[in-house]
Amino acid sequence: MAQYDALARFYDAVTGEPVELVALLHDALARHAPSARRVLELGCGTGAVLAGLGSDLLLTGVDLSEAMLTRAALRLPNARLLRGDITTLDMGETFDVVVCVCDTLNHVTSDDGWRAVIDVAHSHLEPGGLFIVDVNTRRRLRDLADLGEWVDDVDELTLITSVEFSSEPLATWDIRIFERLDNTTYRLHHEVIAERAIETDELVASLTQSFEVLEVVDSEGFDTSTIAPRAVVIARRRDESDDIWTS
Ligand SMILES: C[S@@+](CC[C@H](N)C(=O)[O-])C[C@H]1O[C@@H](n2cnc3c(N)ncnc32)[C@H](O)[C@@H]1O
Repeated sequence: MAQYDALARFYDAVTGEPVELVALLHDALARHAPSARRVLELGCGTGAVLAGLGSDLLLTGVDLSEAMLTRAALRLPNARLLRGDITTLDMGETFDVVVCVCDTLNHVTSDDGWRAVIDVAHSHLEPGGLFIVDVNTRRRLRDLADLGEWVDDVDELTLITSVEFSSEPLATWDIRIFERLDNTTYRLHHEVIAERAIETDELVASLTQSFEVLEVVDSEGFDTSTIAPRAVVIARRRDESDDIWTS
């Protein structure tokens, strides 16, 4: 089973709608790419973000988990949804906007891997196209690890979650979902998800090689620093002709 296959059926109920993130994306598109039509999401999951972006855009989503894509297809009958690995994706076409959000980049735990996702975003963007990416930093994963186990009740589900972060920068989420079948019977679903902490400054440094970084904000939309728990970076793909030096 691929990562997220066990969680897929419960993902939307557990995470809720990504209202703030979608508002941030709408705002970024309105300011930096008002005429954008073609949007690609790397790691689209159940399609909550693409659905929030709206039906007047041409939406494409890529994800490794078949089960997540099955949920996305229910929500997004008109979107193009593809199973693929975002570290090696090569669709042979370009988009106006590429997004990789909800910590998807952290899920690619090797250093080469998450940098490869940035290259994939670059190769799938028109020159001047917009890339929006968010990450969990060390601080966020440390804060979560310090919580120990926490319990959430969502509808007929009880979740027990913990984050183990003793091998920084690698963290392990352990999510146990108890699905209530009747008054006395529960079914256990268990998902283990690896994440790598990515610091804002290392993300920005990686991006600056082929993107112009336009904004670095936290998920609530405030200016952030390298110690922020989460960061959203809005960057524009450089036009290769920008790099030609004239003497
Ligand atoms: C935290 S979820 C975010 C989903 C979605 N962006 C959302 O807003 O709900 C991370 C997603 O990234 C996907 N993912 C992780 N590594 C991937 C990879 N190498 N290639 C494609 N998808 C990947 C997972 O299957 C999962 O659906």
